[in-house]
Amino acid sequence: MIKIGLIGAGFMGMTHALCYEALAGSADFQVTAVADDDPARAQKIADKFGAKVFADGTQLIEQADVNTIDICLPTFLHARHALLAMERGYHVFIEKPVCLEEEEAVQLLEVQKRTGANVMVGHCLRFWPEYAALKQIHTGQRYGKFISGVFSRISPRPAWGWQDWIHNVSRSGSVALDLHIHDVDFVRYLLGEPDEVSSQAVYAGTNIEHIFSQYHYGEAVVSLEATWDCPAHFPFEMSFRVKYEQAVIVFSCQKSPTLKIYGNDGSEIVPDLKTEASTANADRGGNISDLGGYLYELRYFLDRLAAGEPIVNASLTDGVASFRLAIKEIGLAAR
Ligand SMILES: NC(=O)c1ccc[n+]([C@@H]2O[C@H](COP(=O)([O-])OP(=O)(O)OC[C@H]3O[C@@H](n4cnc5c(N)ncnc54)[C@H](O)[C@@H]3O)[C@@H](O)[C@H]2O)c1
Repeated sequence: MIKIGLIGAGFMGMTHALCYEALAGSADFQVTAVADDDPARAQKIADKFGAKVFADGTQLIEQADVNTIDICLPTFLHARHALLAMERGYHVFIEKPVCLEEEEAVQLLEVQKRTGANVMVGHCLRFWPEYAALKQIHTGQRYGKFISGVFSRISPRPAWGWQDWIHNVSRSGSVALDLHIHDVDFVRYLLGEPDEVSSQAVYAGTNIEHIFSQYHYGEAVVSLEATWDCPAHFPFEMSFRVKYEQAVIVFSCQKSPTLKIYGNDGSEIVPDLKTEASTANADRGGNISDLGGYLYELRYFLDRLAAGEPIVNASLTDGVASFRLAIKEIGLAAR
């Protein structure tokens, strides 16, 4: 049986807990332990599964009856917990971004190679129905050559966060490593490593608050934008617009339908998306109203572990490559 220790019971920890609840019965797994700095938060999740509560992540890894660790901690704590878990022979799910420093990335890859741990990084857009549909259309070359794309993520300032870690650049890596990395990873997944990259950013003190990047792929160009510098009541928006030779594909989480294909032949197609990931999430907080890709990525993780197969989508290698591209952009945008 897959025995999961969930570390971090904040926004993402609760999201993962709701996914595990929704996945109960679909795979041979159990959440057996939960750790959080705030015992009440850990208890709230532990009660859903009859799991044991631990006061911190290290203690859980060292003492709990687990074989798999799910890390939903603030980003600066990812690598040290993942390394410890792999050294104990556990499989690991790490929320994005995988880490904050190049030395951590090198260590993670080295320890994974030595221990053979199965590791997945929470690049959930790969599993988000509209993005997964785009990837499928792209791979099938249904509308001819890729011409250009615009990907964006526009958010109100995150108001939650343990000890305000999100707004401390040495703990979150700024909006570039936190929000923007979603699109960095998805565009890499769709098109591979860009031939050329350019980036500009708007800063508040030493923090990047808004980043604009362009990736070149031969003659094709992709533009990416991410910010969390919007007022609290600004509706969270994630979107893309992708141009192929024979169609434009548009997505906006604010629209209904969210995904539409405008063909050069005058057609307007609304793809039929799988939407079994519905809510059960009233007490989750945050700004995305659906378990969406979170559910599908965790189902993939559990399925691969149950089958004894390696993680090939959103692997540790993928997570590190996306981290390195985002770090390159931060360097290019430096003032
Ligand atoms: N995939 C996504 O769409 C997505 C969305 C939001 C956040 N995230 C990522 O998830 C991670 C967590 O973000 P969050 O928004 O849940 O943060 P959060 O601040 O809401 O939760 C973090 C939790 O960790 C706990 N904690 C801190 N130190 C601990 C320790 N040593 N041991 C045990 N618990 C400890 C805190 O008490 C808090 O409950 C971050 O890496 C973030 O980038 C991903």
